[in-house]
Amino acid sequence: MNETIKQMISHAHQALAHSYAPYSHFTVAACICSEKDVLFTGVNVENSSYGLTICAERSAISQMIVSGARQIKSIVILAGTNELCTPCGACRQCIHEFSIPETLIYLCNKETILKTMTIDALLPMAFKL
Ligand code: THU
Repeated sequence: MNETIKQMISHAHQALAHSYAPYSHFTVAACICSEKDVLFTGVNVENSSYGLTICAERSAISQMIVSGARQIKSIVILAGTNELCTPCGACRQCIHEFSIPETLIYLCNKETILKTMTIDALLPMAFKL
């Protein structure tokens, strides 16, 4: 595991404490490494109107977009359960929007990478306008 990934796991793990998940109690954090090697972290943000919940991946993407970055080099996703957490369908489409074929998606726990995937493997035939 290279230093960047270790750092991404560490950022995501620390951010789990800020997840707002009073309804599901399922905390998730994501850390994106952009094309310029800047890290952006996000957590899930739930709402009493459940459908308004923002997933950790989309929360990290928003942070990246606000900074002006537009490309995901890699993304770490981890859950408070410390077990494999795969991104939901909506997040797969949103990750795809800012990915290139080489973008790597690391499904992690707080110690290590559990699975490495490309966005095409996670979301074959993604919607493209
Ligand atoms: N969740 C994420 O943050 N990312 C995913 O890709 C899957 C689900 C969150 C949303 C909700 O707050 C909680 O996990 C349970 O569904």
